[in-house]
This record gives sequence, C-alpha cells and structure tokens, in this order.
Amino acid sequence: MRIAVFAGDGIGPEVTAQAVRVLEALGLSGLELVEGDVGGAAYRKHGHPLPEQTLDIARASDAILFGAVGDFTLDHLERRLRPEQAVLGLRKELGLFANLRPAKVFAGLEDLSTLRPEVSAKIDLLIVRELTGDVYFGEKGTRTLEDGRRQGWDMMAYAEDEVRRIAHTGFKAAQGRSKKLCSVDKANVLETSQLWRDVVIEVAAEYPDVELTHMYVDNAAMQLVKNPGAFDVIVTGNLFGDILSDQASMCVGSIGLLASASLAEGSFGLYEPIHGSAPDIAGKGIANPMATILSAAMLLRHSLGLEEQAARIEAAVAAALADGVKGGDLGGSAGTKEIGDAVLAHL
Ligand code: IPM
Ligand code: MG
Repeated sequence: MRIAVFAGDGIGPEVTAQAVRVLEALGLSGLELVEGDVGGAAYRKHGHPLPEQTLDIARASDAILFGAVGDFTLDHLERRLRPEQAVLGLRKELGLFANLRPAKVFAGLEDLSTLRPEVSAKIDLLIVRELTGDVYFGEKGTRTLEDGRRQGWDMMAYAEDEVRRIAHTGFKAAQGRSKKLCSVDKANVLETSQLWRDVVIEVAAEYPDVELTHMYVDNAAMQLVKNPGAFDVIVTGNLFGDILSDQASMCVGSIGLLASASLAEGSFGLYEPIHGSAPDIAGKGIANPMATILSAAMLLRHSLGLEEQAARIEAAVAAALADGVKGGDLGGSAGTKEIGDAVLAHL
C-alpha cells in the first residue's frame, strides 16, 4: 500500500503532517508514504506546479493524500504555471472524474452555520461532481475580434460517456444512502445541460430503486440555503459542482471539517480537504487539520478498502470534537498539533 503525500502550499504542509501522524498511528503493515512536490512549492523548486517526478510518484501509488495548492504571489504567472494547475493536471492525467464532497453537520456544531440551527441540523448531503470535463477543460483562449475588442472564451462541452459514468457514480452513491438523486443542470439555457439531462434519464432506467429529480442550478443554489435538509445526493457538472460545493460547505459552517475524494475508475483516488491553502493563517500552527484527517479516512475506505480503520479515525475526530477540541474555524482556540494530539489520543 503506497500513499503519495502531496502537501502543497499554505496550510497544506501543516494539516497534512497531522493526517500522516494519524495514518502512521494505525500501524498498518506494508504502508509506505512517499512525498512529492505540488503547487507553488513545486514551482519554486522545479519551475512547474506539477513536475514530471510528482506525476511519476502519483502513478506508482495506490492513492494520493493531498493538502492544498494556491499562492496568490504567483497569480501573475501564465495560467499553465499557476499553483492550481497542479490539482487540475492531476485530475486530468489520472482520470479522477468523480469528486465526492460530503457535507454534514456534526452533532453539537449546528450553531456554526449562518443558517438557523434547526435548518442546518438537517444537513447531510453528498455532492457528486464531475471533475475532468465541462468548461474547465474545454478549449479556451483570448482573441481579438474584427472590431478590435478583446474577447475571452471557454468552451463548455460534455460527451455522453462522460455524463454516463458520473451518473452511474451518482446513482450508486444514492443506493448507498437514502435512494434519492437530484441532478443539477441548466437545461433551460445550455445544450450541454440538455444532453446531460437526457443521458442521466437514460441511466436512471438501470436504477429503478432510486428516485431521480432534476433541478436548475440557480434554483439548487436557492434551495441549498432554504431547505438543505431536503437534499441527499446531488450529481452535477464540474463548474456547477465547484460552486454548489463551496455553498454547501458554508451551510454546514465548518469548512475546516469537510473532506473530499476524487476517484478514478477502479480504486485509485486523490483525497483532500476542501478548504484550500488559507495563506492568511499559514505557518502559524493554528489551522484545523481535521478535514485532512477525515480525508485520510476516506482514502482508507475508498482506495484501500480499510473500512474499519476509516471508521476508527472518524470516531476519533468526533470524540475530540465532543471533548471541545476545536480550531479557530470552529470558534475554539486549539492549535494544529494540539488537535492532532487529541485525535491520536482517541484513536
Ligand atoms: C476546488 C477548487 C479548484 C476547482 C481550484 C483550486 C482549481 O476550487 O477543488 O473546488 O475549481 O476545482
Ligand atoms: Mg472550488
């Protein structure tokens, strides 16, 4: 079992270090951790945010534990050299097409949401976001029109097989939960979305036990703050999923607790906290590592088939929270290492 550890930028190294401690504490035999450079850190060292040697480490691994990438001091670089390209490149190169972003309110933390506690308490949803297509990866550019005006353009497109495979992921996830799937699109305006909807309906025939509904993305954004408890599994495209998953995380109110998995066909996956590099608090030892620790739990479950160990980590995090061990993002004052210590103690 080889896990690539790509800590990246900002708070990435601090939070990843605590997740590594937790993984090592499990004492799994045959577990090997291999570090690699990504993001701005890799650009500074190798001149590229996703160097070839990092990709080689990824390809020779069973899963990737990922910290964060993003460094605003490098935003002036041409797009292909910016830190974000590391995660976009890994998604594309490794075929990580299915992004799972669970959002659930931990018991006792209902007050962290800006929504009323009785509304936020009901949040327990999963966003299944397509991750390797859509306007993110279409042709793009800037050009000068005949009349001399500059125009930026990005091509939005989905081929039916891309929609079909993420639809299957969505339906299977729904089967494992409350058997409700909501497909989010903008079929009233976009051809890309009309095809998306048609294909999702075709795939639905194979899952008669799952109740499928469709929602336009603007309405979904509204329903997510009005009645988030009504959602269970949402399946959507890359751009809409990017936006709605940030929104869902804030409905929960504790972005420092939310983990994610990006899965390829088979068991390979990349696991990362959704909070990003948080440069404002980097290096201060105050970042909450729980989302990364919970991402490590998802890694054990989805890529290594170690459900029991995954559940142990999740229980240890819940127990630390129940003890009142909370980072600044949760209104507490526990530091990064202190939180790691508390999780380890419960483990
Ligand atoms: C995310 C992030 C990325 C995305 C950025 C860093 C490129 O926002 O994982 O949601 O847009 O997909
Ligand atoms: Mg995002």
